[in-house]
Amino acid sequence: MKCTVCKQPAVVRLPSHHARFCAEHFDVFFMRRVEKAIKRYKLLKKGERVLVAVSGGKDSLVVTDVLHRLGYDVCGLHIDLGISANQFSAESLEVCREFFSKRNIPLEVYNLKEKFGKTIEDVGERIGRFCSTCGMTKRYVMNAVAHQKKVDALATGHNLDDLSAALFANLLRWEMRYLSKGTPHLPAEGNFCRKIKPLVLLFENEIHFYAKLHNIRVVTASCPHSKKAKFKRYKELLNSIEQKSPGTKRFFYEKYSQIAHIFKAENEAKISLRPCSICNMPTSTEICAFCKTWKI
Ligand code: AMP
Ligand code: FES
Ligand code: ZN
Ligand code: ZN
Repeated sequence: MKCTVCKQPAVVRLPSHHARFCAEHFDVFFMRRVEKAIKRYKLLKKGERVLVAVSGGKDSLVVTDVLHRLGYDVCGLHIDLGISANQFSAESLEVCREFFSKRNIPLEVYNLKEKFGKTIEDVGERIGRFCSTCGMTKRYVMNAVAHQKKVDALATGHNLDDLSAALFANLLRWEMRYLSKGTPHLPAEGNFCRKIKPLVLLFENEIHFYAKLHNIRVVTASCPHSKKAKFKRYKELLNSIEQKSPGTKRFFYEKYSQIAHIFKAENEAKISLRPCSICNMPTSTEICAFCKTWKI
């Protein structure tokens, strides 16, 4: 197997691009895919300040690494959820700290236990729901810290596999609200800053390979409360289609990203936001879900 570019031995084969690459040309390919996403979806302008939400997993660390290498003014945010099982939160925090200190990039750690005296485990057990409470909490904290730091954009590590599986799941149920929000660029609105997904043109295996190539240590423990089984099934289903017809997954998501405004129009007419009476962040109820969960 030879590299499509230089004809030296290749180390990776990418069927959906009809290409094989050596390590050097894979790196060039990867950086160009992120640059292409930034340009196509108008994610960032040169020199803008971007806060990357990092979990310690491969996607968010890789997106931080690439944006930093491309010269953006990057800082990180890690939310310490306080999940003790599997040493999940302890390992996630350690991995993030190591990554950011090696590159000399500032990292803010938001520790829920320190701020509110309780962890996701305390709250999840009380309410009987972990994942949805955790998702709501992470979204709130990301928005609040991005607003407080006055950054131009908030980036997450979502990749093409995540986004196409979410699209598939939301289409099956015609979840108009989520269908309007699955795009790689959500413009700033009121107190919410612009949200971007720079890995939108990259697959999970490509990100995994980039992390390996650059010796990026990622968290190995998995969250004991995660309910991603259904999501995983959708990913597997799309992968089996992709295997038979390479390029389908990319086409599926890219076509959606061109017509997503249809869903946005439908959604905007229905939801009106106002400031939360406790924290002032936009919400559809008098007190936002975050304040109800963590402050009352
Ligand atoms: P998930 O919802 O766990 O699939 O994560 C989606 C994205 O949210 C990741 O790629 C990260 O950018 C961000 N994220 C997840 N967990 C955390 C965390 N504990 N702290 C900060 N950002 C996170
Ligand atoms: Fe939030 Fe598992 S990471 S419940
Ligand atoms: Zn090569
Ligand atoms: Zn609030």
